[in-house]
Amino acid sequence: MTAEEKIEYVVRLKNLVKNYKIGEGSVPVLKNISINIAMGEFVGIMGASGSGKSTMLNILGLLDVPSSGSFYLDGKEVSGLSDDELAARRNKYIGFIFQNFNLFPHLSVRQNIEAPLIYAGIPRRRRHEISSEMAEKVRLSHRLNHRPNQLSGGECQRVAIARALSNNPSFLLADEPTGNLDEKTGFEIMEIFKILREEKKKTIIMVTHNPNLAKYCDRIIHLKDGEVDYAV
Ligand SMILES: Nc1ncnc2c1ncn2[C@@H]1O[C@H](COP(=O)(O)OP(=O)(O)O)[C@@H](O)[C@H]1O
Ligand SMILES: [Mg+2]
Repeated sequence: MTAEEKIEYVVRLKNLVKNYKIGEGSVPVLKNISINIAMGEFVGIMGASGSGKSTMLNILGLLDVPSSGSFYLDGKEVSGLSDDELAARRNKYIGFIFQNFNLFPHLSVRQNIEAPLIYAGIPRRRRHEISSEMAEKVRLSHRLNHRPNQLSGGECQRVAIARALSNNPSFLLADEPTGNLDEKTGFEIMEIFKILREEKKKTIIMVTHNPNLAKYCDRIIHLKDGEVDYAV
């Protein structure tokens, strides 16, 4: 056995291809991507606009499916699963953070954080404990009864992180999480990621344009026109 085979990869993509159908034709967006990601890694994905970063993150987060190739998540092949099976795995394994936060505007901070727990069938008392704990983790305990429109952008993103963490997923996937924030607030978000990285309990995959934020990552995968250009 080689040294590489001993590493436990929680993500393995092999010859992954994604095409989008446009009218009669089909446009290749991801071309033959093969990458491995180990447990606890903090991986950055960079590349020009349109290079396929979001498409790749959406496939990794089980929000979209590949056209061909293999995707093993935690050792299990996920291509070919039904929508229900994908949704169940998403709830168990994945926390997703978006550039525009995607909070539920009519729900309080606490209710937003608890949303994945309701889907997972966690009883109310336990949900309450978890949302309190997650709010503390992102330093928002004093905002639990606020609604998103009463919060700053940075606070909204911290709620989104607390929500992504609430079901204790193995993966945290973030698509340009600081893209709508000023630089100082962006670094505050990265400090939370840094703490999570040091805990080594989550694999974090983050799309970013910003080389200063990419410095927080263990490794960068560069995409160019749907192919891995180079991986550092
Ligand atoms: N649903 C879709 N249908 C057709 N084309 C799409 C769709 N989503 C993305 N694309 C195209 O795929 C390419 C990669 O998009 P995307 O993954 O969003 O890139 P990035 O996040 O790197 O900017 C772009 O050319 C985009 O126009
Ligand atoms: Mg994108």
